[in-house]
Amino acid sequence: MKVSILKDYDEMSLAAAREVADCVAAKPRCVLGLPTGSTPLGMYHRLAEFFKEGKLSFSGVKTFNLDEYYPIARENQNSYYHFMWENFFGKIDIDAKNVHIPNGEALDPDKECADYEALIENAGGIDLQVLGSGVNGHIGFNEPGEFLYKDTHLTDLTQNTLEVNARFFKEGEKMPVKAMTMGMASILKAGKILLIANGDSKAPALRAALSGKITTAWPISLLQLHQNVVIITDERTASLL
Ligand code: GLP
Repeated sequence: MKVSILKDYDEMSLAAAREVADCVAAKPRCVLGLPTGSTPLGMYHRLAEFFKEGKLSFSGVKTFNLDEYYPIARENQNSYYHFMWENFFGKIDIDAKNVHIPNGEALDPDKECADYEALIENAGGIDLQVLGSGVNGHIGFNEPGEFLYKDTHLTDLTQNTLEVNARFFKEGEKMPVKAMTMGMASILKAGKILLIANGDSKAPALRAALSGKITTAWPISLLQLHQNVVIITDERTASLL
């Protein structure tokens, strides 16, 4: 694993955006796996800037998002569909038909997950998978537990994740307790993985990612099985290393 420890969030975001930009420049028809959350916002902002400055085009790029709440309407401000169009896709020249996000409105979520897995496969697999991490070391919504799932699947969110993500939902608004997420193999099959993490709360997760031990109690620790992982983080997250 290649680990870059940078001064702060801005430096981390710029370096992460450069990694993604390099991938797109080298392979304009590449397939990107993308995360949501507060961590990648700065990276998306930088990438949209590169596009605006004419340095980068996403016109040939295909994307697959890691996860989506279930059930959730696309128009819901908290859907990852809404998040991605608001913060990234709406600001670049990506072709809408090349954007893939699990459908939080699907009537048959298990079929939606199986179809999603097949779509990734048919696209030739993911070239670069960008990941954030939950405070509890979840990646996508692969939550810590007795076992982890291989493929895209419907999952229950843990109490910890419900509490951490509750801040995004308005008072009185019902937060979904399930999500559809790529599985561990869907993630680990990517050609390259870029993990970004910032702030004190992610320090235990980063430590688990570099511990030399693999455990389902810290899904992030499975990244140690992958041959090509780049971690870009800040000094606070690296404080427990
Ligand atoms: C969410 C997403 C993850 C994301 C994580 C961290 O629950 N499912 O893909 O990496 O939580 O979020 P944040 O970046 O806001 O800390």
